[in-house]
Amino acid sequence: MTERGSESNRQWRLKSRPVGMVTESDFERVEDPVPTPGEGEFLVRNLFFAFEPAMRGWLNDVKSYVPPVALGEVMRATCVGQVVESRHPDFQPGELVSGLFGWQDYTVTDGQDSLLRRPVVKVPAGIRPERTLSVLGGTGLTAYFGMLDIGGVKAGDAVLVSGAAGATGSVAGQIARIKGATKVVGIAGGPEKCGWLTDELGFDAAIDYRSENVNAQLKELFPDGVDLFFDNVGGSILDDALLNMAQFGRIVICGGISAYNETELPPGPRNYMQIVIRRLTVRGFILIDHMQDANRARSDLSEWLASGELKGREDIQQGFDMAPATFLRLFRGQNIGKQLLKVADPPLPVK
Ligand SMILES: NC(=O)c1ccc[n+]([C@@H]2O[C@H](COP(=O)([O-])OP(=O)(O)OC[C@H]3O[C@@H](n4cnc5c(N)ncnc54)[C@H](OP(=O)(O)O)[C@@H]3O)[C@@H](O)[C@H]2O)c1
Repeated sequence: MTERGSESNRQWRLKSRPVGMVTESDFERVEDPVPTPGEGEFLVRNLFFAFEPAMRGWLNDVKSYVPPVALGEVMRATCVGQVVESRHPDFQPGELVSGLFGWQDYTVTDGQDSLLRRPVVKVPAGIRPERTLSVLGGTGLTAYFGMLDIGGVKAGDAVLVSGAAGATGSVAGQIARIKGATKVVGIAGGPEKCGWLTDELGFDAAIDYRSENVNAQLKELFPDGVDLFFDNVGGSILDDALLNMAQFGRIVICGGISAYNETELPPGPRNYMQIVIRRLTVRGFILIDHMQDANRARSDLSEWLASGELKGREDIQQGFDMAPATFLRLFRGQNIGKQLLKVADPPLPVK
């Protein structure tokens, strides 16, 4: 145990496995002593938690690409923090770092991460730490690899993105525009999100799926069909897109958030045969398989951010106690851009 005054290590642990929609009461707030780093380890004070829909999947006791969070375990999450004590030669007190630190004030780590293959990385000088969780973090990288390496976006493509005002979708659509897509259309919930896509991010149009008929809008906006659909949502939106794909179109399945909180998986997609009729290529992917190329992605994304071609947005809530409530914002569609929670200011001067 470390003597950090009278401070304790607040944690949010998984109390019960959600059935259907995740609730705040599925998590339990406990206090533990602040841990002490051993040889080759360092202690991180967490400053920001990042929230991802995939974290909902980690709560189900099913076989997936990573093991579930165990009952009683600190909720797994990517965070930015500051090194406050170190017995590791490569990490010094004062440095800002990003890693899979979880919903807690303090984390001891050796800098490795075998689970999501996201070892602890230092926040580069001159970059706001929040950025390393958003455009330069997992969701920005997902958009990059999904659009480029999986979707093969190219000049002249007519591109559709669902979940377009979220962390991944907003970056994916902008990458398509940067790469010369002739048309980029986003699907999102509500006028504020749709306005942000067209007025600030350079999308050609946006469809508000809550108030508009998606199929009818797609027919009007894509008379020659969609060449590339980047899907974050699944469900009825995927079905509508299938009816509006161009021949030999490509669909990148990034996620299917419409079903993450369902107790029973919905049937579908209903328009499955369109894959045959239109000779579509449908391909899923998971970011962890691309982490060996993370430096290429971060370098391109940083360049586009610096040139102003790419805009990022973080939705930052405040306070450690708000962690479960902030997580739920993702499933209520309350976030615009990357959902983050600020839990502390850096306790040491930043190096
Ligand atoms: N394959 C990978 O490796 C990988 C990695 C990261 C993320 N993902 C996936 O990418 C997608 C987006 O993740 P993100 O982190 O960027 O989250 P996000 O888009 O920032 O936030 C989630 C958004 O999803 C929409 N949504 C929530 N419930 C919905 C529902 N029932 N039907 C339709 N839309 C709903 C909401 O926007 P609206 O208000 O517009 O509905 C909400 O703001 C998710 O499916 C996630 O699982 C995949």
